[in-house]
Amino acid sequence: MSLEQRLKAVIRDIPDFPQPGVVFKDITPILKDQELCDAIVEAFAAQINELGIDVVAGVESRGFLFGLMLANKLSVPFVPIRKQGKLPFKTISESYKLEYGQATIEIHEDAFEAGCRVLIHDDLLATGGTVVAASKLIEKLGGTVAGYAFVISLDFLQSRGRLTRFSEEVVSLVS
Ligand code: PRP
Ligand code: ADE
Repeated sequence: MSLEQRLKAVIRDIPDFPQPGVVFKDITPILKDQELCDAIVEAFAAQINELGIDVVAGVESRGFLFGLMLANKLSVPFVPIRKQGKLPFKTISESYKLEYGQATIEIHEDAFEAGCRVLIHDDLLATGGTVVAASKLIEKLGGTVAGYAFVISLDFLQSRGRLTRFSEEVVSLVS
């Protein structure tokens, strides 16, 4: 079975969560399978090999799960991008719309050195609002968004096009 088939077999669709009309993709069954988690990280590492990544930035909360694993695999620092009010040091912020609401995310202003090549990771790409906001935070700190890595992309929302303003790589393991 391919990695995509293995992932599709375990990701659960939860209708009407967290609100009516949304089909929520539940990735928690993946986390129970250590080999599958390792395979995800291996697949990301293989596909971003050429990008010269200096830092992996993961978006709270599900972006932390594989984000830190991937940073460790690449032997680069991990930077958390968190929801408003959670990071304790000096921060910069961006607001954005979600498929089911509105949110603000923040990053520490000393998260990485200007000039770093940053990979943005999240578990899932829906409208792209979250990672577009994340990319603005990276750029405000003088970083370059070299690529994006998602476990799942909901391509029916046609969000991929929002991400590739320059030549950023977009890796997604399941669509
Ligand atoms: C989910 C998901 C992504 C985002 C994708 O996070 O983990 O971060 O939504 O949606 P978008 O592409 O339309 O922006 P959520 O804000 O639900 O937070 P969580 O990870 O803490 O559950
Ligand atoms: N984040 C945004 N849309 C989502 C969905 N349909 N399932 C899980 N996470 C999401």
